[in-house]
Parts: sequence; structure tokens; C-alpha cells
Amino acid sequence: MKVVPTIAELRKELAKARNTAFVPTMGNLHEGHLSLVRRARELAGPKGPVVTSIFVNRLQFAPHEDFDTYPRTFERDCELLRSAGCDIVFAPNEAELYPEPQGYKVQPPSELADILEGHFRPGFFTGVCTVVLKLFNCVQPASAVFGKKDYQQLMVIRRMVAQLALPLHIEAGETTRADDGLALSSRNGYLSEAERAEAVQLSRALADVKRALHNGERDIAALEKRAMNTLSVRGWKPDYVVVRRQVDLQPPQGGEPLVVLAAAKLGTTRLIDNVEV
Ligand code: PAJ
Repeated sequence: MKVVPTIAELRKELAKARNTAFVPTMGNLHEGHLSLVRRARELAGPKGPVVTSIFVNRLQFAPHEDFDTYPRTFERDCELLRSAGCDIVFAPNEAELYPEPQGYKVQPPSELADILEGHFRPGFFTGVCTVVLKLFNCVQPASAVFGKKDYQQLMVIRRMVAQLALPLHIEAGETTRADDGLALSSRNGYLSEAERAEAVQLSRALADVKRALHNGERDIAALEKRAMNTLSVRGWKPDYVVVRRQVDLQPPQGGEPLVVLAAAKLGTTRLIDNVEV
């Protein structure tokens, strides 16, 4: 496995590559990321290289968010990537990826990118799309793997690839969870011991909504409100718990596949999760 810090070296490494499979990350890797890398290994086949990028992208953090404290564990990440079958770690620093202020940006459509996560984190998906497009241009992969853990992000990227006719396949990876059901996340490391024990309630709240839908409950507004209340009473500060259509994350019309999405703060840590119905 090679660690490559510059775009020029990356292009040289990949000059003759075919069927490259790519996993963009911000590092501090856990089993969720590694499951995507193993999927990339399958997609690339025996000859195609697997590239993972590690880059904490300032563009997608608001000034009050955790850019400075975001956990950076590069050496350990590289060990994990080696054992998961990664061939190249693309690890540019900020000066390499943003040598001048990034004035050209990808603005995703408001109806998809200004709702849910985009509502509570204005500009977030512009920052994500801009860095992901730039990383795609560096790596030029045949396929890229994104986790369903960040359901809206996956959808925003899929639409960007379709609308801009980018020549690659987007693959979705299932959410990897801890034994108690908590979705793995780099931000779980911010939780105290007591908060970590409580954190499972987010996935439980989602499971409760899913169960109610399966049981024929049709008052979706009431379901959403009940889930928000359950979390609030336990001391969470929920941003949203909503039932949406899988296809475009808009409110359901009836009969279509659904997804329950939630974001909530536990102490100072903001967690997100979702479950398909
Ligand atoms: P990061 O949070 O590091 O996540 C990298 C990839 O891992 C994303 O596709 C995310 O959905 C996936 N992932 C995270 N936790 C997961 C879990 N428990 N199970 C399965 N997949 C999981 O998402 C980003 O970085 C950034 O926004 C990025 C796309 C790299 C752009 O900067």
C-alpha cells in the first residue's frame, strides 16, 4: 500500500489504472469505513486499484463546528486500510487540495440539499459536493463507495454524478453498527461513557418508528412527534426525526418505499442515523 500526498504523484500512480474503486473519507477510520473499502476491493476486481482518500474538508464545516477538533489518527488509519485491501491512500494536505481559496463550488439543488442536514448545516452539501467532485477528478475512479449512514449525502452525490454525467458508478454500503445498534461514527469518540450508553436510543427511536409503520400506523406527523419527544425527555436535543420517501427525501404520498431519518444532539455531540422501511 502506498501513501500519496500530492495530486501529481497520484496521477502518476494511476496513469495506467483501470477499474479504480474509490472510498472518500475524513479519516479516523472504523469498521464502517472498512466495510466500504472491502466493497471497493470487490468492485475493483483483482487488477483494479482501491484508493481511499483521507482529507478533513474544511469547506463542509461551519465556523462553529468541529473542524479543528475532528479526530486525526493517520498512522492507525493506514494500518487498518492496509489490512482491508486498500492499495493507495490519497492524503493531501489543505495546501495541496486548496492551493487557493476554492471559489468554484458545486451547488446542489435546494430541494435536496437545503432540507434535513442541509437545513441545520447550511452550505454543508456544497462543501461535500465540491470536495467529492475534486477528489473524483484526482482519482478518476470507475466506481466510488458511499455509506447509507449518511443517507442524504449518498443521494446528493448520486444526483450530482447523474446530472453532471460523471463517468463513474456510485455504490451504496450498508450502515455498520455496534453490538447495541449504535451506528459507527468518528463522532462517537466525543461521547462520555454515560452518553455512549444513552446513544443507542437514537437507533431505537428509529426502529420504533419503523415498527409502527410496519404495524400500519399512518399518522406520520404523530409518529415523528412521538419519537422527537421520547428523545427530548431523555435529555437529547433532536434536530429532526422524519419519515421520508427513499427516492427524493420528500414527505410520503402513500405506498412508496420510505426511510426514517434522525439527527440529534447528545450533550455537545451531534449524531445522525437512519433506517429504511
Ligand atoms: P466520513 O464521515 O469519514 O465518511 C466516509 C464514508 O464512510 C461516507 O460514505 C460515510 O457514509 C461512510 N460511513 C460512515 N460511517 C459509516 C457506518 N457506520 N457504516 C457504513 N458507512 C459509514 O462522509 C464523509 O466522510 C465526507 O463527507 C466525505 C464524503 C469524505 C467528503 O468530505
